[in-house]
Amino acid sequence: MKRILFLSALCISMSASAQKTSTVTIHETQGKNVIPKEIYGQFAEHLGTCIYGGLWVGPESSIPNTNGYRNDVLGALKDLRVPVLRWPGGCFADTYHWRDGIGPRENRPTMMNSNWGDTKEDNSFGTHEFLNLCEMIGCEPYVSMNVGSGTVQETAEWVEYMTAENGPMAELRKKNGRQNPWKVKYIGVGNESWGCGGNMRPEYYSDLYRRYATYCHNWSGNRLYKVGSGASDYDYNWTEVLMKNVGTQMNGLSLHYYTCIGWNGSKGAATKFNADNYYWALGKCLGVEEVLKKHIEIMDKYDPQKRVDLLVDEWGTWWDEEPGTHPGHLFQQNTLRDAFVASLSLDVFHRYTDRVKMTNIAQIVNVLQSMILTKDNKMVLTPTYYVFKMYNVHMDATYLPTEVNAEERQVMNERGGERTFKMLDATASRSADGTINVSLSNVDLDNSNTVTVNFEQPLGKNATAQIITSKRIDDHNTFEHPNVVKMEEFKDFKVKGNTLTVKMPAKSIITVSVK
Ligand code: AHR
Repeated sequence: MKRILFLSALCISMSASAQKTSTVTIHETQGKNVIPKEIYGQFAEHLGTCIYGGLWVGPESSIPNTNGYRNDVLGALKDLRVPVLRWPGGCFADTYHWRDGIGPRENRPTMMNSNWGDTKEDNSFGTHEFLNLCEMIGCEPYVSMNVGSGTVQETAEWVEYMTAENGPMAELRKKNGRQNPWKVKYIGVGNESWGCGGNMRPEYYSDLYRRYATYCHNWSGNRLYKVGSGASDYDYNWTEVLMKNVGTQMNGLSLHYYTCIGWNGSKGAATKFNADNYYWALGKCLGVEEVLKKHIEIMDKYDPQKRVDLLVDEWGTWWDEEPGTHPGHLFQQNTLRDAFVASLSLDVFHRYTDRVKMTNIAQIVNVLQSMILTKDNKMVLTPTYYVFKMYNVHMDATYLPTEVNAEERQVMNERGGERTFKMLDATASRSADGTINVSLSNVDLDNSNTVTVNFEQPLGKNATAQIITSKRIDDHNTFEHPNVVKMEEFKDFKVKGNTLTVKMPAKSIITVSVK
């Protein structure tokens, strides 16, 4: 009896931490598409404490700031090399009237943020504050226009205010302290126009898009890149109608895809979940690949030359709000599970960069799957922040086709079907200086994995690696314990000839750079 008990205990402990093996093949001589840096875009909405408290505290605040922007957050965002920032929403954008957010702050009118908790919005963060922030952190602005409750004239004048050198709007801007126009490339013509952006039918929105976009003028050498408000998830009809009716009058068409347990009732707790919830969420996140393929197929039908880009301008995890936080402010914690949702999603986006040219994770600070959490004068970087930091070697690098041979897992999907995914995911790129970057995600909660990465040619001798992992999958960083999950140097790998061997712990994300 004792022997049986001993053997079964041994089996459990073996299955609880077995050593798996997988292989990855990288075709480094076949790389052709560049991974645009905009795949690593961010999104900041007037929602909860994303803007107020998160990015902006005002120049009078006792929280250390530069002209009103928090110094700690500014520093962290500069380190992240944010390429593009979408603003002011989201749903908020279709209730926003830009003239309320210019001129002396004490004279700006207030409004109620009806989408997000009926919070008072004092407009102290407006066009100047946003565009100056983009200049400070060195990113492109992406401004969402109000098509839902605004007017064509208001939209046309906003573009003129931001980008014209001369004329009445430029004079108004100069009076408000900004002499030179800003450079604004990306403008969104509405947001979720099928929902919070006006509950429109795609046929009606197509006509509105054509009308609004007509009056968004290229002033003073600034060239606009106009984005049509696209579908969410499986709404392929929206894409079909827009491509048919608007087609190449858009530079880009957006797509929104969130990872949550469901839209009715609970979306799932951010920090309290079990292994099944974890794997289910990974399946949902990876479902984005099928969704991308289907939207791209429709786009290919109307635009085989790929002149219209697909922009996943909202994506990420959407869990239940943290208990005790303001309802409607979408403040959620961020665990190692969120880090995997980030790495796996980015791996998928890398594969479709012939059509997908930008993505914007929702959202940058204090909302949904954020990079940063703040509370008064405290700041923590989330596990997702570290994935973005680790992965930024892939920005503007050439994507290298990659095949993964690894154990698979099956989970249910939200429509009663099944999804299958690999327990190891991989992506690779070559930077301009010839460095090859390989990112590996061992999503297995229990088993380590010795990964053999085979290349076509011998590798260089200089290699470095970083790892993100933690004891528990629900580990996260709090204001009291800010360094539970972080990025660290990793040494358990070997380069020999054409082969890289990486000994990955269970639930770990590793990037190796070889030159
Ligand atoms: O990111 C939060 C919200 O999600 C956005 O405001 C909206 O566009 C989407 O539904």
